[in-house]
Amino acid sequence: MIALRVSRRKPTELTHLLRQQRRPNAYMTNPLDLDHRQDLPSEWLFLLEAFPRDQWLAHGNLGPLTEFWLNRHDGFRNHGNTLIAMLRQFREGQIPPQRFAGMFGPQLQHFLSELHNHHMIEDHHYFPVFMEAEKRLLPGFELLESDHEQIHQRIEAVVESANTLLTRLQSEDKDAILRATDEYAAVSNALLMGLKQHLSDEEDLIVPIILSRGESELGLS
Ligand SMILES: [Fe+2]
Ligand SMILES: [Fe+2]
Repeated sequence: MIALRVSRRKPTELTHLLRQQRRPNAYMTNPLDLDHRQDLPSEWLFLLEAFPRDQWLAHGNLGPLTEFWLNRHDGFRNHGNTLIAMLRQFREGQIPPQRFAGMFGPQLQHFLSELHNHHMIEDHHYFPVFMEAEKRLLPGFELLESDHEQIHQRIEAVVESANTLLTRLQSEDKDAILRATDEYAAVSNALLMGLKQHLSDEEDLIVPIILSRGESELGLS
């Protein structure tokens, strides 16, 4: 049986700063956190107003790196939907437990590892470039990096509950399997809903910066 795992986060200086500033229950009370916000604050969206979404794909400054990065985001959205569909089919009895375990473990491991790596590259390589290029949006990047922290906690919760589920699937205890499936579904849902919000807000902040300057001026390509 595969046991899922995820690497620890390698904190940036900004992460250390955010951790020092954060009150223990800040996620619960911050109206901008992943579970409470609908959009980014309007004062961070002045570049998005100049470069609205419906103009992105046709814009001359949309270079290969940005295209690749947007495709990665779509890949996470699609892979998340695949995992949701697979779980639903299992719960509806369309996939037998052993077959589900064999498909679900490797798929989820791949998704979580890729997501972790994606966040590490953004925190350590891309966010510093954008924070330097557009200092007015510094609070926005602090929010995105704190999203990564929060999402990582959810990834760890998903790993734990998925491992419990995979262990239960080896047993014949139907009630225990059902309970583990419900618990996994709840933490997985929290991860995927938060991720969906994060991906969209991150694009709203970053793509307009790239379109306003161009990838080569920013030193990205
Ligand atoms: Fe991100
Ligand atoms: Fe991202």
